[in-house]
Amino acid sequence: MDVDYFKINEAAYDRFSGEYRKVRETNKEAVEEAILFINHIKKISHDPKILEIGPGAGVTLKEFERVGLRTYAVEISQKMIDTSREVAPSTVYTKGNFLDYNSERDFDGIFSRFVLHLFSETDAYGFVEKAYDLLRPGGIFFASTIFYYSSQEGFIEKKKEGVSALRYKKRWTIGELEALVKGGPFEDFKMSVIDKEHRKIMVQFKKVS
Ligand SMILES: C[S@@+](CC[C@H](N)C(=O)[O-])C[C@H]1O[C@@H](n2cnc3c(N)ncnc32)[C@H](O)[C@@H]1O
Repeated sequence: MDVDYFKINEAAYDRFSGEYRKVRETNKEAVEEAILFINHIKKISHDPKILEIGPGAGVTLKEFERVGLRTYAVEISQKMIDTSREVAPSTVYTKGNFLDYNSERDFDGIFSRFVLHLFSETDAYGFVEKAYDLLRPGGIFFASTIFYYSSQEGFIEKKKEGVSALRYKKRWTIGELEALVKGGPFEDFKMSVIDKEHRKIMVQFKKVS
């Protein structure tokens, strides 16, 4: 692709940070996903070190901090990081693209809510591989996204409340997601539709060795 779509997505999410802040306190579904992850991570580590990819306004990071996880986050939008810090101040933030993220490969868990669809289909394979690399053996990776009944990828306008901006989005079908999951390095995974009406789907990966 000639255009750097990550730059365009960064600018779009800078614009949306205020809207994400507004709904942060009422986003029950996000909190439920965070609690599901917390329940799993506590079973595999006494002092979990976790990474959140694309925390946005910090709705789930806040929960991770609340229960005492050691939290790291990588986020492409500086405005989102500033907004997230208001509720998750103890997290170690890195501003940048997850595909360029460098760190020790010792995370017990990685969490990513509604970020996968902001990567092209090709880059999404790198996204899953990168998450695998950063986990310690036995670590878990939870990624949720939206599924569609027909596939599409490109610059699509996003509207949230009074703000609109163009950003790159991949509309995943369940079949494409299955191919992504099965074509990646994780041997152990479970894909489940968590909200059929709103087409929300989650993949729970485990790094076996
Ligand atoms: C749809 S929002 C979801 C925010 C939050 N996870 C939630 O559930 O409310 C996607 C977030 O991912 C961030 N993001 C997009 N592409 C990214 C990338 N390549 N690397 C890191 N963060 C990214 C955006 O800036 C935005 O904050």
